[in-house]
Amino acid sequence: MGDQHVHDNPVRGRFNSWLLAKYEDDFHEEMGARKQQHLGSMNGTVVEIGAGNGVNFRYYPPGVQLVVYEPNRWMHARLQEAARRHAVQCELRPVSASQLDLPDQSVDAAVCTLVLCTVTDPGQILHELRRVLKPGGKLYFLEHVAAAPRTGLRRVQDLLMRPWRWLFEGCHTNRETAALLDSVGFARVEIECFSSRKMPPVIRPVISGVAWR
Ligand SMILES: C[S@@+](CC[C@H](N)C(=O)[O-])C[C@H]1O[C@@H](n2cnc3c(N)ncnc32)[C@H](O)[C@@H]1O
Repeated sequence: MGDQHVHDNPVRGRFNSWLLAKYEDDFHEEMGARKQQHLGSMNGTVVEIGAGNGVNFRYYPPGVQLVVYEPNRWMHARLQEAARRHAVQCELRPVSASQLDLPDQSVDAAVCTLVLCTVTDPGQILHELRRVLKPGGKLYFLEHVAAAPRTGLRRVQDLLMRPWRWLFEGCHTNRETAALLDSVGFARVEIECFSSRKMPPVIRPVISGVAWR
């Protein structure tokens, strides 16, 4: 089964869109400089998966042709409003990114922020992103991740994973995303780890970086 069913609940769908909108300024304050550095120099065709309310649209330079996969229809009104506000040329595909309907080696760059925690099969999504990137093309990622094994925080993450996943439509508190990024065949992966001051304590460990095809 695909993962579209996760996004069929109107109450949770609306709640999650509202929540992301509420924390948007905090995300810009804490993560804006990193996003600007990477997204601000992109050009050509860019695929962004799980774009949510369009929080990243302000960072793309003019002229970028954005293809967005966002299966949660409750996000779409805010996403389209963000595209208008930031004059982004955006083609919205309202489906899961688990199978991208794009040819091999057809996009210049890819973006996912706070998405690999949520998708059903992050390995499959990363393979798809790698497949559609042109040689030398880059994937920018920013993701909350599992704390180090056998720490108190990791135990709390493991304990809260199931209720958290239900409330936040698939979001896992404890994904080992850095290891996954290293395992899917990118030519080079650069990862910076930091502790967020804005996210809820249970999801404070964050990675940001680039994977090159
Ligand atoms: C926590 S939100 C992050 C939104 C935005 N990227 C941000 O940084 O605020 C996770 C997003 O991933 C989307 N998502 C979940 N599963 C997905 C899938 N299989 N394919 C594409 N997007 C997905 C959700 O609908 C949601 O918009």
